[in-house]
Amino acid sequence: MATRSVFGAQWGDEGKGKIIDLWAADTDVIVRYQGGANAGHTVVVDGEKFVLHLLPSGVLQEGKINIIGNGVAIDPTVVLREIDELAERGITIDTKRLRVSANAHVILDTHKQIDNASELWLGAGRIGTTGRGIGPCYADKASRTGLRIGDLIDRERLRSRLAAFLAEKSALLERVHGAEPIALDGVYDRYAAIGERLAPYVGDTGAELRRLAREGKDILFEGAQGAMLDIDHGTYPFVTSSNTGVGGIGPGAGFPPNAIDAAFGVAKAYCTRVGEGPFPSELEGALGEKLRELGNEYGATTGRPRRCGWFDAVAVRYALELNGAAGLVMTNLDVLSGFDEVQVATSYDVEGGASNLTEYPADLTDLARVRPRFESRPGWMADITAVRQYDDLPQAARDYVEWVEREVGVPIVMLSVGPQRDQVIPIATR
Ligand code: IMP
Repeated sequence: MATRSVFGAQWGDEGKGKIIDLWAADTDVIVRYQGGANAGHTVVVDGEKFVLHLLPSGVLQEGKINIIGNGVAIDPTVVLREIDELAERGITIDTKRLRVSANAHVILDTHKQIDNASELWLGAGRIGTTGRGIGPCYADKASRTGLRIGDLIDRERLRSRLAAFLAEKSALLERVHGAEPIALDGVYDRYAAIGERLAPYVGDTGAELRRLAREGKDILFEGAQGAMLDIDHGTYPFVTSSNTGVGGIGPGAGFPPNAIDAAFGVAKAYCTRVGEGPFPSELEGALGEKLRELGNEYGATTGRPRRCGWFDAVAVRYALELNGAAGLVMTNLDVLSGFDEVQVATSYDVEGGASNLTEYPADLTDLARVRPRFESRPGWMADITAVRQYDDLPQAARDYVEWVEREVGVPIVMLSVGPQRDQVIPIATR
């Protein structure tokens, strides 16, 4: 039995979906434990593209158990829509294939409304959220005023919890944001119907997961977003509202963290970020634009253009250390083909402060004044999307990979050179 975790080692959008889908082939159970429909995990199977926001990326492999754990902020309308969309494409998601935690918090339409209203309220100080209601839902979870999936199924509980919830939210929306109050009945009917459809999938997924582990099943935890968006360890306040890495698994799945055998970070061969906030290695101008176009760097959830920059070894080293990573998967290496030179941020100078920092600064004021020190190596021109053996890569590409590996301090175990399942180069045994 092996229990592995895959997490984003940058600001999200590292290509985790493809790696989870691939590794799901030799796993029995795939588990989401945090985040919500803010995630957009893209998987390409036989040329067909799937973008999953809430269903774990193991649903595209047959015979796997996929769990949405209690730590996920679930928009149940998205879960049902994804089940329906997959059914239209010939993939049946039955109750063996998908389990949903009764204790996961529900993202109601009101949460999305508040998310967007509070971004407007923040104005120039906005986070640049995905507008999927993530922050308001987790805030209600911490305030103990939220609704959980189990509440949707028990009609009496739904009515009373929803009544209390809407009374408070209506006051907030009306008095602070100048919006219309929300009437209980329509919302109750809508979510009662959703609860009825979802009910067969719902259970105590923590207990189910621990039982599966006792039975010796292989388990893969699927992180969403990235370490630099972690609410505690990321670039707060420009973060998402959950613990995105290995630390989120215990509370978010009901699984003992000391039973996780190995964690693997996923990072692009360069770096991207969507939304506001510090991004030390960002490239503005033609080079950034070239990366965006070559990498098709537009958000899978919101379609927003992603900010692009060179690989930031300081940030990735921090993310890998924070999560005790055993290895790193480097994605989108093919996107770097065609650059005369490739660069990596290997340390930071803080304007008016420390110089040559190799540790990621925790303080936002320092972060805002960080100037990365870039080092450069020759690039390569050849198209590498058809390469499947490490030794067949151009020498300059191998030099780049080995350079990054030395900088981040953990072995690079796999390279991805395109969106298809087979466009990978395993290098664990190099
Ligand atoms: P929220 O998670 O929608 O509240 O957004 C908070 C921040 O996290 C924003 O900067 C978003 O762009 C970013 N974010 C949230 N989910 C993802 C993701 O899956 N990929 C990349 N960025 C994300």
